[in-house]
Amino acid sequence: MDIKLPRGTQDILPSDTAKWQVVEELIREQCRMYHYKEIRTPVFEHTELFTRGVGDTTDIVQKEMYTFQDRGNRSLTLRPEGTASVVRSFVEHKMFGYPDQPVKLYYMGPMFRYERQQAGRYRQFVQFGMEAIGSSDPAIDAEVISLAMSIYKRAGLKSLKLVINSLGDTESRIAHREALVNHFEPHIEEFCSDCQNRLQKNPLRILDCKIDRNNPLMETAPSLTDYLNEESAAYFAKVKEYLTMLNIDFEVDPNLVRGLDYYNHTAFEIMSTAEGFGAITTLAGGGRYNGLVAELGGPDSPGIGYAMSIERLLLAMEAEKIEFPDTTSLDVYLVAMGEKAKKKVTELTFELRKHKISADMDYLERKVKAQMKSADRLKAKAVIVIGEDELEKQSVMLKDLSTGTQQLVPFTSLIDEVKKLTEAK
Ligand code: HAM
Repeated sequence: MDIKLPRGTQDILPSDTAKWQVVEELIREQCRMYHYKEIRTPVFEHTELFTRGVGDTTDIVQKEMYTFQDRGNRSLTLRPEGTASVVRSFVEHKMFGYPDQPVKLYYMGPMFRYERQQAGRYRQFVQFGMEAIGSSDPAIDAEVISLAMSIYKRAGLKSLKLVINSLGDTESRIAHREALVNHFEPHIEEFCSDCQNRLQKNPLRILDCKIDRNNPLMETAPSLTDYLNEESAAYFAKVKEYLTMLNIDFEVDPNLVRGLDYYNHTAFEIMSTAEGFGAITTLAGGGRYNGLVAELGGPDSPGIGYAMSIERLLLAMEAEKIEFPDTTSLDVYLVAMGEKAKKKVTELTFELRKHKISADMDYLERKVKAQMKSADRLKAKAVIVIGEDELEKQSVMLKDLSTGTQQLVPFTSLIDEVKKLTEAK
């Protein structure tokens, strides 16, 4: 049999899952601090959710979705991102009627995009994302950005860059859109076929084109900043004010346009500037989506959120050589000398576990020396040795592996003594 894992996916092996668990716990803890609650939505949704929500001219919808027909002939799609699903759920469960507004949610789970595989880009990846729906207070834009930055800082990352922009409200966007069409239209044949399609449907996305990015017309394209109406400019100014107040460094990039259609007002990305992080420098992206709830059938509720993949967070931590705490070590390894002792070791191993002491033993009938080696390799804090002598004395030999000291401990006080020893470490 020669079946390998599908391109763009990865097995996360036990040597790495410990790292995942550390960052997942750190993220959940930060969410608790900011009072965001977890939501879990299905891994697949009706395809229409993404064509309407994410936008049918986006790369995600046009090129990257895993769409399939189920046995009931419905068109379903493996979720390429989380925002559309969360907003669907917000509408479906009438969360706009909850007494506590805004509704602050987070999610962590696999997303799927049919993209070209490279470092930091997978076809299945795990996104952590958060959404605050029901408030258009610029302070919550700052809160979302602050939570994102705090996760990276808590993870130990130092080489970070936050880039923000305002995409303005509908009025500003219409004015800017018109200016973009006028700018690109006379020369549109110089551009790729995707851009030619985007010209009428969504000219803003031309600015995000990877193929034509060196065309001189990109440099001289009308900037959205110049088309922001008074209200949008004032909103953006307040977001920046809050960020400054929270001591969050940022750069304004008027060319920052995000790859999804639902954004307006605040848009942002966080990059890693660490050497060795690789070609894809974006760690996270997000922004405001004031029209999306209404687009998906709900009332006119404003929203903002962001998402990042755990894979890229871990790559950035690796690039910055951040050490992970060892969460896999064992409290006690039990060593048996002889057949009779084996029975007692088995009994005690299971007994220790009942008292929340992690314990393991030999299942390969190995010699004492080999069992002791296992204890070392597994970085056990303590070893319990039982032989004929110990059995006779109704005791065990308890050895502290970090100091090498050992003592004879009666069965009756074993749990207490082991707890004393392991909890001190
Ligand atoms: P996005 O920019 O498409 O936005 O993705 C956000 C993040 O997901 C990226 O910055 C990156 O960390 C990660 N990501 C995306 N594609 C891949 C991939 N192929 N492999 C590994 N990581 C990837 C969104 O998805 C929006 N839903 C964010 C948002 C939430 N906006 C408002 N609320």
